[in-house]
Amino acid sequence: MLFKSKKTSLKDLVLPRHIAIIMDGNGRWAKKRALPRSAGHSAGSKNFKDIARYCNKIGLEYLTVYAFSTENWKRPKEEVDNIMNILRDYLKDAKNFKDENIKVKFIGNIEALPDDIVFLIRDAEENSKEATGLNLNIALNYGGRDEILFAFKSLAKKVQKGEMNIEDITEQTISNSLYTAGQPDPDFIIRPSGEYRLSNYLIWQSAYAEFWFSDILWPDFTSKHLDKAIEDYNKRNRRFGGV
Ligand code: IPE
Ligand code: IPE
Ligand code: MG
Repeated sequence: MLFKSKKTSLKDLVLPRHIAIIMDGNGRWAKKRALPRSAGHSAGSKNFKDIARYCNKIGLEYLTVYAFSTENWKRPKEEVDNIMNILRDYLKDAKNFKDENIKVKFIGNIEALPDDIVFLIRDAEENSKEATGLNLNIALNYGGRDEILFAFKSLAKKVQKGEMNIEDITEQTISNSLYTAGQPDPDFIIRPSGEYRLSNYLIWQSAYAEFWFSDILWPDFTSKHLDKAIEDYNKRNRRFGGV
């Protein structure tokens, strides 16, 4: 754990309030080992649990992970079914969120998912709602543009019903209409796997985020890599347009 190392200690480092991770590279991880893509998703899921636990341990306030995008439905049915089954297994274990004091929230178009998954998701959220540790957002059937579209529609509906005026539509009311309403924007976005893009992730919320890219494939991304990323984050000079 970084904060116990001789070189750096917790008091020397500022932890971002909110870290977002694009958990990418499961397929290539499996291919390198001549395994089916499903093995990559299983390894990625296991790694996600380890990293979430680690983030809770070091006292991170918010972690948002990208698990399945609105575009990932383009994949072969077999792969999508496999990912949904991994998700089902994870959710059935949901009592762990409570034991670990992690508060879980799913962001994305959840209602469009199969009924049994929606039920398990709402159960997991309900069960962990009193937790006071890490706030874990899992982005599932999530797309940044889809989220903004959803926000526009909900604001337009309020205007149509006479509940608000057009002048009341502000950056704040838009933020409050997103799935992440009430949460701080991500300070730091991590994407392993060697891709240098957002792939429709948190496009409104990332306006002033810092980025960290690496070639490591998600199942190989350890707490040591996260430590290194946080160390690098501490070298950034965030100006937010100022001087
Ligand atoms: C990320 O890994 C998992 C999901 C998108 C669900 P990928 O499956 O995209 O892995 P690569 O990019 O093909 O290696
Ligand atoms: C982004 O990864 C989505 C998730 C990690 C869930 P993709 O593998 O879908 O992204 P692209 O297709 O390489 O942009
Ligand atoms: Mg990918």
